[in-house]
Amino acid sequence: YRKIGLIGAMDEEIKRFLDHIDDVKTIEKAGIRFYEGFFYDTEVVLCKSGVGKVNAAVCSQILIDHFEINAVIFTGVAGALHPDLQIGDIVISTDCMHHDMDASPLGFSRGTIPYDKTSIFKADDDLIKAAFQASEKSFHNRTRKGRILSGDQFIADREVVQQLHKQMDGDCTEMEGAAVAQVCSMNEVPFVIIRSMSDKADGSADVNFAEFVVQASQHSYQIVEQMLKNI
Ligand code: ADE
Repeated sequence: YRKIGLIGAMDEEIKRFLDHIDDVKTIEKAGIRFYEGFFYDTEVVLCKSGVGKVNAAVCSQILIDHFEINAVIFTGVAGALHPDLQIGDIVISTDCMHHDMDASPLGFSRGTIPYDKTSIFKADDDLIKAAFQASEKSFHNRTRKGRILSGDQFIADREVVQQLHKQMDGDCTEMEGAAVAQVCSMNEVPFVIIRSMSDKADGSADVNFAEFVVQASQHSYQIVEQMLKNI
């Protein structure tokens, strides 16, 4: 990978990278600040997309068109959907879907984008492998490959968690991954999403999120650091 786009949604999720990027050049586009430079020996463009799918989509397309990156790694925190996942555990995306895409009155199943050729956006096998190996190093038995569900909603309800897990086979939920995944797929750019669990998307999610966002972001950073050392 010649040049990698590194995205986080919030300050907390990108600040450790910012401290470690050399020869930084800062460029602003669409209100998003991009940091171009070197992370260890890899050329990267780091950015904070902002929260939500539109921010993530715009950010991804700019990385591809303007910065001509040829892979995207998204790093950050998520709410756990799989019952085995604990706070601090890691999910590496195998694929992503939009849980808030719902045209069911027209007969389309939840998550299906009407008339598009696919609604399941598959991550790149080599990036999945590299991310999984890097994660296993620090978080042995706490790393799982699985489906990430995204929507413009902070989920904090047990029943919704069960629904998303059972109906859509989601392992964790967040608010950007599927947007990044879709834009990358549309442009044939390989990607992987790496998420550390800040909460269980239940009634305690708001409190847990506030408490664990720092630790979970640290975990995500550690994995990407390890991964880029090996790439
Ligand atoms: N990111 C972290 N926790 C989340 C949750 N419960 N819902 C949506 N996005 C999240």
